[in-house]
Order: sequence, then C-alpha cells, then structure tokens
Amino acid sequence: MTMLLENYREAIDSILARYGSPRSATLPLLYLAQDVYGHLNGEAIREVAAILGLPPTAVFEVVGFYTLFYSRPVGTWMIQVCDDVPCCYLGAEELIEALKHTLGVDEDQTSADGMFTVQRVKCLAACDRAPVVQANLDYLYDVTADKAEAMLANLRARAAEVKKRGLSGRFAEDFELGPGGEVAHIDRDAPYRPRQFGPQAPPPPQAAAEPPAPPQAVEVGPGIDRPDDRTASPL
Ligand code: FES
Repeated sequence: MTMLLENYREAIDSILARYGSPRSATLPLLYLAQDVYGHLNGEAIREVAAILGLPPTAVFEVVGFYTLFYSRPVGTWMIQVCDDVPCCYLGAEELIEALKHTLGVDEDQTSADGMFTVQRVKCLAACDRAPVVQANLDYLYDVTADKAEAMLANLRARAAEVKKRGLSGRFAEDFELGPGGEVAHIDRDAPYRPRQFGPQAPPPPQAAAEPPAPPQAVEVGPGIDRPDDRTASPL
C-alpha cells in the first residue's frame, strides 16, 4: 500500500467518489500529494498514477503542463509574478527585480531561509488590478516594486497559514496593497472594486519644437554611363 493511501485513505476515497472515472480525479489527487510531500517528485507522481490505475506517463504529462504543480522543492510561499502585457506596463519587471534583489535569488530560485520561491508566469486573469502576484493561490493586487518588501513581510507573517491551507492554495484568499504598501484582505462577498488610481499629474509643458533645418542642396556629378554589355538571349 502506498504512503498516501495508508495515511489519507478517507480523503482519497472522497475525491475518487466525486468522479465517474478515476482519470478525472488526477488534479485533486496531485494537489493532495503536493501538499503532503511539498512537491511532486517522480515517486509521488508514480504513487498518484498507481492510485488512479493510470500509466505514470499520463500523470507526468499533467504535472508538466500546469504551472501550479512543482516538480522540485519550493519555498513555503511560491511567489508567481504575472509578466504579461498589462502587468508589465504597470511595473511587473521592476517588481521581479525588486523581489530578486531583496531575497538575493534569481528567478525559479528559493530564498536561503526556504520561505520564498520567485517565478514569472503568464496572465493570472486579474489584469485590472495589475501588477498581480499569486502567492500559493492567494491573489495580491496592485503590487508595484515599492511595495515588494511590505508584501514579503505580510507573507512571512502568514507563513503558518500555509501549513493549514496547503502549498497548493486550497481555501485561498484575495488581498490588495494600498498606496503605502499596506496589505488589506478583500472580503470575497464584497462588491467588485476596481483599482483606485490617484489624481494624475498634468503632462509637463513641451518645449517649442525647433523649426526643421532647410534642405541641403545635393551636388550631382556627371555620373558614369553604364556600358551596354547586354547580349541576345540564347532562347
Ligand atoms: S496581464 Fe497580469 S493578470 Fe493579466
């Protein structure tokens, strides 16, 4: 019997009971395995495949496809920064640089204390609150580079929650960062509130444009006649 079956029999049975075919339970079983083991190595993936009665390759493919499955150890918080176009316009690249600098890591690396892994991902489907960060499965909105340290401090203070909720982010919450980096929880039943922008400063006055320089006369030499060396076509 596998370790998962031995210790999580009830949870596994209740997942399998929700689906008509065992294959359909692949994602929830992988989330369970990831929360138990911390990441999905080959052994964990084969174990899930054995529970589902599937060839291991079918489960390896699923793990390789989704960015929320981690095939190597990651930090307590997996910080995924969206680097798609709207987030980039509003500072995602600067945010990634600030996180790397503050944590002393490169992309896809984990901080020395094991708390944070930084990764870039594509659109997280919350573009109206860009730049967006997904920490495990919590969403953090309006995270510009100047708020990176406040966000990290908030996540560090909430590290114990990860143990309860799991790395895979079941029961995740939404948060927004205010102008000074203050982190506020968003009540999921609260009415939708788009990002609040401060008053825009008027654009600086433009200096009067210099008149274009008059066209320069170009001296044209007599040129050289091209020799007429055309020959008749052999056709
Ligand atoms: S572009 Fe970042 S959430 Fe869509």
